[in-house]
Amino acid sequence: MSRGKFITFEGIDGAGKSTHISFVASLLHDLGHTVVTTREPGGTPLGEKLRELLLSENMHLETEALLMFASRREHLAQVIEPALARGDWVVCDRFTDATFAYQGGGRKLERAKLEALEAWVHPHLQPDLTLLFDVPLEVARERLARSRNLDRFEQEKADFFAATRDEYHRRAQQFPQRFRIIETIRPVAEVNALIDGLIREFARA
Ligand code: TMP
Repeated sequence: MSRGKFITFEGIDGAGKSTHISFVASLLHDLGHTVVTTREPGGTPLGEKLRELLLSENMHLETEALLMFASRREHLAQVIEPALARGDWVVCDRFTDATFAYQGGGRKLERAKLEALEAWVHPHLQPDLTLLFDVPLEVARERLARSRNLDRFEQEKADFFAATRDEYHRRAQQFPQRFRIIETIRPVAEVNALIDGLIREFARA
């Protein structure tokens, strides 16, 4: 039994990532894979409790980074690693790139601290493919302005999201072999066609 593939979805809030997750999961299913769809923070009963705290409670920046990695540690042990070992494909809404982008870029936590946590929690695992959903900052802001009940991150100011987005782009440049940037300013049908081609190509490789 060969190991499954690990696909992550990333992007700033309002970039349009979530709309495409079920599309990718059902495409992979049609291609014959068993798919586990999950998310961070969250993905386990404990992780979902941590998510609630992370999205609502004010806390020290380092507490926030540590809780993101605590949720991730549990998620890896309970869900991600067993699924990949079984040969399932894991489609995960955010992973460690989000911590570099939000806590590192947005909140300015030193990158070395995040690298230390990453080396502790998942020294040998990286996504096989990362889809980075991207729109100009103003478009993401407009989309967010239309939604109600914004969480603690979504309520952040434009400069926070500009720095978060910049860090995502820096990561995409650092790891070009696994990152693909999807510009969601285009019509949904066009974006779907693009993702369809990209996933089929990845699944064949
Ligand atoms: P979601 O709305 O895409 O589910 O993500 C929840 C929020 O958590 C989102 O605003 C980004 C934030 N987040 C971080 O700040 N760091 C992380 O490591 C992860 C996984 C998410």
